[in-house]
Parts: sequence; structure tokens; C-alpha cells
Amino acid sequence: MKKAASIILAFVLTASCSGGDAPAPAKDAAPNAESDDIDAEINLDLWLERLEVGSRELFSAREAVVEAVGLEEGDWVGDIGAGTGLYSLLFAEEVGDDGRIFAEDIEPLFLDLITRRTHDAGVKNVTAVLGRTDDVTLPGNSVDVMFIADTYHYFDDRETIMRTIYEALKPGGLLVLVEYEISPGEDRPDYKSHVRFGKTGVISEIEYIGFEFVDEPEVEGLTENYLVRFRKPETVGADNSGAE
Ligand SMILES: C[S@@+](CC[C@H](N)C(=O)[O-])C[C@H]1O[C@@H](n2cnc3c(N)ncnc32)[C@H](O)[C@@H]1O
Repeated sequence: MKKAASIILAFVLTASCSGGDAPAPAKDAAPNAESDDIDAEINLDLWLERLEVGSRELFSAREAVVEAVGLEEGDWVGDIGAGTGLYSLLFAEEVGDDGRIFAEDIEPLFLDLITRRTHDAGVKNVTAVLGRTDDVTLPGNSVDVMFIADTYHYFDDRETIMRTIYEALKPGGLLVLVEYEISPGEDRPDYKSHVRFGKTGVISEIEYIGFEFVDEPEVEGLTENYLVRFRKPETVGADNSGAE
């Protein structure tokens, strides 16, 4: 009981967090985002400049990140909080014609951008999916790999949305999470000052949902961010209710 209570508390304490490598794109996506320099309307050019720029390590180290995810030909992949489609487009190449990428986001303008980009590039295995803040809206037991980069801290209700991610993964499926790491007392750059929880808390939250921790591979070029991998158990029935 004690462990369950402390993990629930962790969810509650960190629930108001927002922010990421760049501010959230829409008010609904992240109410507390540092978006004073962005109009209510999304400026996609500005977002492309922010998310796909060499000074952002999730862009400069993208090939190493893709390698660490470890996709296989034919995989079905959920790119949750796909943004400009940076990773969806790279994953599309990795999984080949028999694979499929679900580029999921709650912001329709990003999905329009992804649809345009895939169309222009002749990429046919990416589907843009409009999710909700409490549901990734992907069918149950359908996806081999879920990828969440620079987005976990935007989730308003992480427990609820993570349960929908768990449900949509096939048994034995992989969850890969990339997040900004913070250490207590650390001096953070302004654009990260709103990220209020670190790796240990994130891992506890995800294990609480029922995922099993797999590993934290070394990713060349990632210094501010960490990448962790989890697995949905093969035999579902593991107790993830929080009760002991
Ligand atoms: C900083 S961007 C990261 C984009 C992409 N993953 C990358 O690393 O380049 C965060 C993205 O998360 C999306 N987002 C925020 N809350 C979300 C939610 N509850 N469900 C899905 N996407 C969400 C935003 O719309 C935005 O596209």
C-alpha cells in the first residue's frame, strides 16, 4: 500500500509540469508553457526552426536516437507527440513498406504539416492521428513500439494517457521515452526551468502503469536528455492497478 500511495503522490505532485525542448504549441496542449513569444496561432515555420535545428540535441543526435530505439522492418510504431514529424519520417524509413508509423499529436496543424511532408516526400507508411489529452486514440494491442520524445512532461494527466499507451501496445511491445534530465539543485537553462521532475520519478510512474524497465542505452550526442526503454509484459494480467 505504502509504495502505491507514494507513486500516486508522485503523479499528483508533478501533474502541473509543462514545457520541453521548446514551448508547447497550443494553449490546450500545455497550459503553463512558456509561449509568450508565440502568437495563439501556431507558426509552423517557427516550430520547424525550433525543433529541427542543430542546437537542439534531439535533432543533432537523431540518427543515434533512432538506432537506440531499435526498430525492425515491418514494425508498427506510435510516435506520440509527433510535432513536426521529425522522428516519424525517420522511423518510416526504418520500418519499410510493411511497417506503419502513427504520427499522433493533439495539435491538428502539426498533423497537417506531417501529412504534407510525407506526401511531398512520397512516404506512404505514415498516418497522422489526432489524439486527445487523455487518450492517444490508437486501437488496443496494435502497436509494436511507442516512442515519446520531449512530450511526456506536457501530459496533463500522465497516468490516464499512459494507460491508453499501454493498452495500444501489443504484449511484449516496447515503449521508448526520451526526456530532459534534471538533477536537484542543478542550474538549468531558462528554456528548461519549467521541467520539474527527473528520470527516477518518470521511471517509477511508468513502472506503476505496468511496464517493465528494459534499459537505458548510451546514445551518442545526448547529454541533456536520457533515453529509457520499457516493455509491456508478454503476459498481461500483471497487476498494474496500484493495489498491493
Ligand atoms: C516539444 S514537441 C516534441 C515533438 C517531437 N516529439 C520531437 O521531439 O521533435 C511536443 C509535442 O507534444 C505534443 N503534445 C502535447 N501534449 C500532448 C498530448 N497530451 N498528447 C499528444 N501530444 C501532445 C505537442 O503538440 C507537440 O507537438
